[in-house]
Amino acid sequence: MIKIAPSLLSANFSCLAEEIKRIEQTADMLHLDVMDGHFVNNITFGPVVVSAIRSKSKLLFDVHLMITNPAQIIPAFIKAGADIITIHAECRDELLPTIRMIKDAGVKAGVSINPPTPLEIIIPLLGEIDLLLIMSVNPGWSGQGFISEVLPKIREAKGLIERDNLSVEIEVDGGINIVTGKQAVEAGAEILVAGSFVFNSSDPCNTIEILKNL
Ligand code: DX5
Ligand code: ZN
Repeated sequence: MIKIAPSLLSANFSCLAEEIKRIEQTADMLHLDVMDGHFVNNITFGPVVVSAIRSKSKLLFDVHLMITNPAQIIPAFIKAGADIITIHAECRDELLPTIRMIKDAGVKAGVSINPPTPLEIIIPLLGEIDLLLIMSVNPGWSGQGFISEVLPKIREAKGLIERDNLSVEIEVDGGINIVTGKQAVEAGAEILVAGSFVFNSSDPCNTIEILKNL
């Protein structure tokens, strides 16, 4: 079954604990979008907030770092309770040492690629990571439209992972709804991040169930 990771970016930030309760029963993980105002033109939250909500949820914390220099702040996210930490292939830090730092701490490591970034640049890392996060919007905001040009990239990644028998999960993030979620799953996605589609719905737990069964 498909795993669903609701993105807290679309929640009401004045009451995060209550918002997490709205998705806790059916979500598989909680997707936490960290933005530094440099890698993307938006700023969200850091380890202090992750630590504060850690005790409010039993879900896996799937931390997506849209940060230019993630390495220096990763230890703080590990301490805050991250279960999966994903860095961007387009960041300025060296990817392999940063991935190893995450894994050495017993945390799962992911790499993400933006829509214009070719899959080729992360192929050498596939044997090192637990998660490949394929962006289906340009990162920065929730509520954007799904860029369907990324579908061949998902298919290609799935093919490579299966060919080499690797244990890398493919997560797709941005513009997910019933139609685009189905397209992503058919292309090979195993985890769907959904922000506005889940949090803007009247029954988020049911919306998650619908996405899981795509
Ligand atoms: C975009 C973030 C996404 C976003 C998803 O920069 O990485 O996780 O919040 O939101 P929706 O599902 O509304 O596109
Ligand atoms: Zn994200």
